[in-house]
Amino acid sequence: MQGIGIIGAQWGDEGKGRVVDLLTEQAQVVVRYQGGNNAGHTCVIGNQKIVLHLVPSGILRPGRLCLITNGVVVNPQVLVEEIARLKSAGFLENEDRIRLSDRAHLIMPYHQRIDVLREERRGAQKIGTTGRGIGPAYEDKARRAGLRVGDLLEPEEFKKKLAANLEENNAYIEKILGGKGFTLAEILEPFREYGEKLRGLVADTSRLLDAEVKKGSRILFEGAQGSLLDLDHGTYPYVTSSTTTSGSIFSGTGLGFGRLPLLMVGVTKAYTTRVGSGPFPTELSDPVGDRLVEAGGEFGSTTGRRRRTGWLDILALNYAIRLSGLGGLALTKIDVLSGLDPVRLAVAYRYRGERLTEFPADLKILSQCEPEYESLPGWQENLGSVRRLSDLPRAVRNYLARVEELTGLPVLLMSLGAERGQTIVIRDPFSL
Ligand code: GDP
Ligand code: IMO
Ligand code: MG
Repeated sequence: MQGIGIIGAQWGDEGKGRVVDLLTEQAQVVVRYQGGNNAGHTCVIGNQKIVLHLVPSGILRPGRLCLITNGVVVNPQVLVEEIARLKSAGFLENEDRIRLSDRAHLIMPYHQRIDVLREERRGAQKIGTTGRGIGPAYEDKARRAGLRVGDLLEPEEFKKKLAANLEENNAYIEKILGGKGFTLAEILEPFREYGEKLRGLVADTSRLLDAEVKKGSRILFEGAQGSLLDLDHGTYPYVTSSTTTSGSIFSGTGLGFGRLPLLMVGVTKAYTTRVGSGPFPTELSDPVGDRLVEAGGEFGSTTGRRRRTGWLDILALNYAIRLSGLGGLALTKIDVLSGLDPVRLAVAYRYRGERLTEFPADLKILSQCEPEYESLPGWQENLGSVRRLSDLPRAVRNYLARVEELTGLPVLLMSLGAERGQTIVIRDPFSL
C-alpha cells in the first residue's frame, strides 16, 4: 500500500502517535487532516517523551514531510510554540518539513472562551471537552464566518473579517454566556506576529500531497481522536466536532478517493479508555479499573485528566471497523493487562432482556446496556522486553487470536510498552 490511514478505533488516546512514529520509518509524508490541539499524541524515544498536538508525529524522524491540511483547526499560538519546542528538543532541523494549508481554519481566542464558558454553564450535563475551542471553531467554519490560515497573511483583510466576527462572538459571550468579550487590538497584535512566524509554512497542501502521490511517496494519514467521538457516528452529543472516521482523509486533505491505494489501520488498546462524559458500557468503577489507570498511566496527554477505563469492547471495535473500512489492527498497551486474571472481552450487550451484538446508535439504549463478557486466561509475565510473536506467553497469543476472530481482522502491529522500540510488527501494512 502506498498510503496508510491510522484511525483511532475507540474514544481516542489509543496510541495513534506511537503507531505513526513506528510506521514513519518507511514513509516520506505524514498528514494531520482533522481535529486540532484537542489531540495529544505521545511518542517516547529513549528517555524523552514528546507530546504532539498539531504537528504530525512523523516530525520525529528526520527528513519526513509533515502536512497540516485543510480539515484541521489550527490555534496558531499552539503551533508556533510546538514548532519552537520541537526545535529546541532537536527534532526539527528545518521548518521546510512542515507545511500548513492556507484553507485550514483558525481557532481564535473567543472560540476557546466560548468552549470553556459553555461547559461551565452546562454543569453536570457538560461534554467534558478539552476546552481548546474546537467546537466553536468548527461552528464558525460551518456557518461560513471562520478565519482561515490564508487570512493571516493578509493583515488588512484579516482585520476586517476579525472585526465582523468579534461583533457577533462578543455579543454571544457577553449576553448569553455572561463572560467578557475581546477587543480588536488584543487579538490583532499577537495574530500579526503568528502570521509572520507561520508565513513561510503556508501552502496549498492538496497540491503538495498530489505531487507526492505522483512521485510514489509513501504517505501516512494520522487520525486524531477516535471513531466513537465522530461527530456523526459517535456517541452524540458526547463527541468531538470533526469526522474522525476515515472519510475525512479525503475531505480533510483535498485528496480524491482512489488517487492512491490506501489501507485503513485501526488503533485499539487491549482495553478501553475514555476522557470526558458520555456512555461507556464496559467502564470499570472498581479496583480493576483503578489498576488499568495506574499500570497504563491513564491520564490525558492534553488536559492531564484521569481517563475512565474498562475492558475491550468488541461491539464498539466492530462498529469502528465498519465505519472506516478498517483492514487491519494495531493493538497497543497489551503489557498493561499483565497480572490480571482472567482478562475479559465484551462480546454482546444485554438491553432489557435482549441480546445485542451491534453497537446501538441511540444513547438512551447505550447507556442502559450491560456488557456480556467472555473471559480468557490472563498472564503474569512482564511483556516489556518481548520483540517476537513467538516469545509471547501462550495466553497473550490466545488473546490476540480471539480478538482477530471476533473482529475478522488481522492484528498487524502490537506494542508492549510506550518506548519506540517496544513493538512487534506482525505484518508490515505498507507491504500489503
Ligand atoms: P494517541 O492520542 O492515540 O496518540 O494516544 P496518547 O498518546 O494520548 O495516549 C497513549 C498513551 O499510552 C501514551 O502515554 C503513550 O506513551 C502510551 N502508550 C502507547 N503505547 C503503549 C504501550 O504499548 N504500552 C504502554 N504501557 N504504554 C503505551
Ligand atoms: P487524541 O487525538 C481523547 C474528547 C474530549 C471530550 C470530547 C469533545 O489524543 O486521541 P473537544 O475538545 O474535542 O470538543 O472534546 O472529545 N477528546 C478526546 N479524547 N483523545 C483525544 O484526542 C480527544 N480529543 C477530544 O475529552 O470528551
Ligand atoms: Mg491522545
